[in-house]
Amino acid sequence: SPHARAGSQSTGPVIVSHRGASAYAPENTLAAIDKAAAMGFPWVENDVQRTKDGELVVLHDATLARTTDVEQVYPHRSPWKVKDFTAAEIARLDAGSWFSYRYAGVRVPTLKQYMNRVSHNHQKLVLEVKNPELYPGIERQTLKLLSNEGWLDPAHLKSSLIVQSFSADSVRTVHDLRPGIRTAFLGRPSIAQLPDYAQFADQINSDQTALSSGYVSAVHGFDGPHGSPMKVFAWTVNDAAAARRVAGFGVDGIITNVPDVIQRALQ
Ligand code: G3P
Ligand code: CA
Repeated sequence: SPHARAGSQSTGPVIVSHRGASAYAPENTLAAIDKAAAMGFPWVENDVQRTKDGELVVLHDATLARTTDVEQVYPHRSPWKVKDFTAAEIARLDAGSWFSYRYAGVRVPTLKQYMNRVSHNHQKLVLEVKNPELYPGIERQTLKLLSNEGWLDPAHLKSSLIVQSFSADSVRTVHDLRPGIRTAFLGRPSIAQLPDYAQFADQINSDQTALSSGYVSAVHGFDGPHGSPMKVFAWTVNDAAAARRVAGFGVDGIITNVPDVIQRALQ
């Protein structure tokens, strides 16, 4: 089984495989995190949503249409929202064939299955609470699962887990429920707004196109909720020139579909 090489990145921004190594394997599947691990990249990112019967699953879009064969399996259930399907129904879907015939039969993972594989691979996770407005209480439920799986133990808390969301309310809720967790706000608050975000977010994870050297320095000038300088991760950086640009701004992390390309660009 694949194992990430701990410490293979000595300096520079941490490289995070976006939805797993999603240029090389179907996004948000166990195959995509195995691929990242095999390539030597411990950090992966995912997206967490909830089924009709209350199971947490890993999928990016609010519907199953783009990344599974749901339209063939359930032709009369348009628009195929995740929240309108049970976990058992979703478990029947093929989440790999749309990407390549080589991945036929790969499934949409439950969050529990996903966390077990991340642990098995000795990987680290940027967990995104996706579309939280569709799933009341998903923050508390996600933290409960993480706690049950041992991910909120001190060994994991500081070094192996970041919880992020585009919803500031969600990030604040996660911080309030479990203040020890490292959190990130997905977006680019104005510099004037940063003192507020610094109350509950350890990081700003921004669209790379919204970043500048001045902005990254400004974020670094604030201490987050754990008393250390706030960090900046840039997404989604998929070519060498863009990687060098944001690295030049001083970002602390780069979220990418092509971790190998980014690592080579920064060497
Ligand atoms: O982790 C950053 C990135 O994943 C946010 O955008 O749409 O890919 O979830 P999206
Ligand atoms: Ca995401």
